[in-house]
Amino acid sequence: MNAIYLSGSGNTKHIVTLLLQELGGSGICAPIESEDAMKALEGDELLLAYPTMFSNIPYLVRDFINSHETAWKGKKIFLITTMGLFAGDGTGCAARLLKKYGAEITGGLQIVMPDSIGDCKALKKSKEQNKAIIEKADKRIIEAAKQMRAGKYPKEGLSFAAHMAGLFGQRLWFYNKTTGYKDNVKIDPSKCIGCGICAKNCPTQNIKIVDGKAVASSKCTMCYRCINHCPKQAMTLLGKTLYEQPTFDKNSK
Ligand SMILES: Cc1cc2nc3c(=O)[nH]c(=O)nc-3n(C[C@H](O)[C@H](O)[C@H](O)COP(=O)(O)O)c2cc1C
Repeated sequence: MNAIYLSGSGNTKHIVTLLLQELGGSGICAPIESEDAMKALEGDELLLAYPTMFSNIPYLVRDFINSHETAWKGKKIFLITTMGLFAGDGTGCAARLLKKYGAEITGGLQIVMPDSIGDCKALKKSKEQNKAIIEKADKRIIEAAKQMRAGKYPKEGLSFAAHMAGLFGQRLWFYNKTTGYKDNVKIDPSKCIGCGICAKNCPTQNIKIVDGKAVASSKCTMCYRCINHCPKQAMTLLGKTLYEQPTFDKNSK
């Protein structure tokens, strides 16, 4: 089994890597933006994983699914979404789209992980709380893998009830947030030192260094990887103030 994932602060990467390992898989595990994702797509069985965004799929994942529409026919796909609190039908959103292209959805997992939005105060937790969340998530993955090895696939986020919860609980009110790429990455030029870490990390190559300063364009998928890795705390997206820079490594220590 191969895996393709999008991960901003590293949560989803951790979860999908652990699941693949627990399933005894030696398949390709590739970031969605990498060339290896195309190789991973060639297999018959796939794990597709991404962070929940406003109870929806990140636009980059939707774009990837739509732009490889012929690749999904007959493929068995297990969906994983990670979330800070509430996903509703985070897996279901991708499931419906993939089914349209002929994929078979074998199941889904929706895993609570630390929040990745550093410029918004809501959902912030202490280090100890985040560590406990990760430990709980790891246990859930190990248990899910045990079930999957026995042929029982969890179906989280795929029911009609989950669809209604995701739609009315959040997606309807924030629908415009995930219907396309965004142009609202803000970079403070007085803080930016032009190191290029943001540009290197961006999965959509949305950031360039121009005259020694980072400049963002209009292809942001809101993963927060640039913001959470900026050594000068020069970037924000949804909020105006950066409160912390969550990354899986910091949260797990
Ligand atoms: C733009 C954005 C929107 C988000 N929306 C939700 C949400 O609707 N519900 C939720 O529980 N978590 C939400 N989160 C939190 C992430 O889904 C969660 O922290 C996830 O584990 C991050 O995974 P990653 O590190 O692989 O990117 C959101 C995060 C971002 C960046």
